[in-house]
Amino acid sequence: SLVPVSDLLRKAEEGKYAVGAFNCNNMEIVQAIIAAAEAEKAPVIMQASQGAIKYAGIDYITAMARVAAEKASIPVALHLDHGTSFEQVMQCIRHGFSSVMIDGSKLPLEENIDLTNRVLAVARAVGVSVEAELGKIGGTEDDISVTDREALMTDPEEAKYFVEKTGVDSLAVAIGTAHGRYKGEPKLDFERLQKIRSLVNIPIVLHGSSGVPDDAIKTAIELGVRKVNIDTNIREAFVDKCREVLAKYPDEIDPRKVLGPAKEAAIEIIREKIRVFGSNGKA
Ligand code: G3H
Ligand code: 13P
Ligand code: ZN
Ligand code: NA
Repeated sequence: SLVPVSDLLRKAEEGKYAVGAFNCNNMEIVQAIIAAAEAEKAPVIMQASQGAIKYAGIDYITAMARVAAEKASIPVALHLDHGTSFEQVMQCIRHGFSSVMIDGSKLPLEENIDLTNRVLAVARAVGVSVEAELGKIGGTEDDISVTDREALMTDPEEAKYFVEKTGVDSLAVAIGTAHGRYKGEPKLDFERLQKIRSLVNIPIVLHGSSGVPDDAIKTAIELGVRKVNIDTNIREAFVDKCREVLAKYPDEIDPRKVLGPAKEAAIEIIREKIRVFGSNGKA
């Protein structure tokens, strides 16, 4: 059955590695995540955003995850990525998600704390783990200057206060990463991460990790990151392969001939990421 993310992160903390959290939108990507994790003997987190749930339907997402977890020889979690309302998080819990993120990062601090605590009160009762966000991670497409981006980063003292007031299971922090494709190379604020980690004794989550160089990811893991979110790199591998196949065989009309190779390309990139995170062989 699906396991809470907190179980996986507790072991990751003991072993000083990170668990990959991969976004899924369709059956091929679900299968790719599981196949990659099986091949690497790695615990894995499948996560669905509000957009993914809207696209595939919550019943399909949870059904695919359940089948995946039943058949898999590795631990699998199903996690809501960037849940923003209490109602939506409740819907995911009712449908069988084993973990949720409540992203109150756009709210004033005390409101973020209140919302996170309301979610925790329910999640605790049913054994679902909770990730919160403090600081604004944002997107690569957001037109934000470097200094402005820095102003949106997680304040270490605020993180300490937030964790004391909530007792949340894990915390997503803004330390220089962004969602989507980077134009240049992202600069991570490791000093900030170290400070956060020295004040906060729970697993740290790194969002926007596609496009972050492997050595930067490894340094972040050494400094306490235990969950690494990857979406964009899977999309790129998947759609690039679709384009390649269609360019080569413009008359192809069998979706399997297009999506099959795309799935294989997704498996490859996910396996590479798992090895960077050090979760291979940890299942
Ligand atoms: O956090 C962002 C994830 O990449 C999900 O993106 O909202 O387009 O599904 P999405
Ligand atoms: P990327 O798309 O940049 O990998 O970010 C994924 C993410 O953080 C999902 O929450
Ligand atoms: Zn994210
Ligand atoms: Na990114």
